[in-house]
Amino acid sequence: MDERLLVGAPEPEEREPERTLRPTALDEFVGQTKLKETLGVFLTAARRRREPLDHVLLFGPPGLGKTTLAHIIAREMGAQVRVTAGPVLEKAGDLAAILTNLGPGDVLFIDEIHRIPAAVEEILYPALEDGKLDLVIGTGPAARTVELRLQPFTLVGATTRAGLLSTPLTARFGITHRLDYYDTASLKTIVLRSAEILGCPIDDEGAGEIARRSRGTPRIANRLLRRVRDFVEVAGESRISAAGARGSLDRLEVDHFGLDELDRRILATIVDRFAGGPVGLSALAHSLGEDKGTLEDLYEPFLLQSGFLTRTPKGRVATALAYRHLGLAPRTATGPLFDGPA
Ligand SMILES: Nc1ncnc2c1ncn2[C@@H]1O[C@H](COP(=O)(O)OP(=O)(O)OP(=O)(O)O)[C@@H](O)[C@H]1O
Ligand SMILES: [Mg+2]
Repeated sequence: MDERLLVGAPEPEEREPERTLRPTALDEFVGQTKLKETLGVFLTAARRRREPLDHVLLFGPPGLGKTTLAHIIAREMGAQVRVTAGPVLEKAGDLAAILTNLGPGDVLFIDEIHRIPAAVEEILYPALEDGKLDLVIGTGPAARTVELRLQPFTLVGATTRAGLLSTPLTARFGITHRLDYYDTASLKTIVLRSAEILGCPIDDEGAGEIARRSRGTPRIANRLLRRVRDFVEVAGESRISAAGARGSLDRLEVDHFGLDELDRRILATIVDRFAGGPVGLSALAHSLGEDKGTLEDLYEPFLLQSGFLTRTPKGRVATALAYRHLGLAPRTATGPLFDGPA
């Protein structure tokens, strides 16, 4: 199976459906109740004052709805949204051009905001705090600074790595929300909603089966739904039943915890090659022949959250649950054989 089927950025073929499945109003956004409630209050207050919403920072693992929320915020404010991303903003001038082109009340969405270069980030500070831009014109002794007033705007920043964001930048967001993995009930609602949009008949238990194996992630729920639909349709069945979903997910090698082939390989490597850990991320990535960032952003958070791994100062350790999941007896307390770099 393609390891990237389950996690990671939307695949090109799926970009279009992702967009149609994307909720466009706060009411349609399933789950994350606390976040929705507080954000709803801030939106209402800002609308009443006829002011733009304060700057919003959204963080959390991939596929939980950060981009979706950014668009919802713009729509709820009746504002235009401009979209850019940290890695695209190479020079201060790139960001300055975007900022000076914003209309009153516009929402600027910066995805992967932790990847903005430091020099570009600096021009954001006065823009966020005082709504102005300090531009340096010319070089050497003739250089001078011009101050440009910006239209009032809302920055929505999204990141999978809140820890990599500088303190001065983090401090300039008035609203900060962490998105958590979704519970099975919310994911089931998402699967049922998506199936309806896709015109794909599904049983309640079929939706539950997909929800349970979606690693708490709406993007994965939608992706599994599409793949299960493929299997079921080709098999000539008229709807997704529990058995149909189970059979398809087994064929996709997504187990009943939602772990895929790479998840299991990560656990097996820690157990077999590193005696259960602790092992540093770099050593683990090297051993798996995988990218360190992929492991850290896409795989590790879910394995930690669901109790398969724990993180110690010396590195990652496989838990008893991981051993059981691999069909092994948990190791005895003889201590690790190998200490990887933390
Ligand atoms: N609360 C939700 N209710 C219904 N569908 C959702 C919800 N959150 C996300 N989705 C679905 O999951 C998909 C992925 O969400 P989104 O693109 O917003 O994630 P993200 O957090 O921006 O991920 P990344 O970090 O990879 O950019 C969306 O296209 C949408 O269909
Ligand atoms: Mg996104």
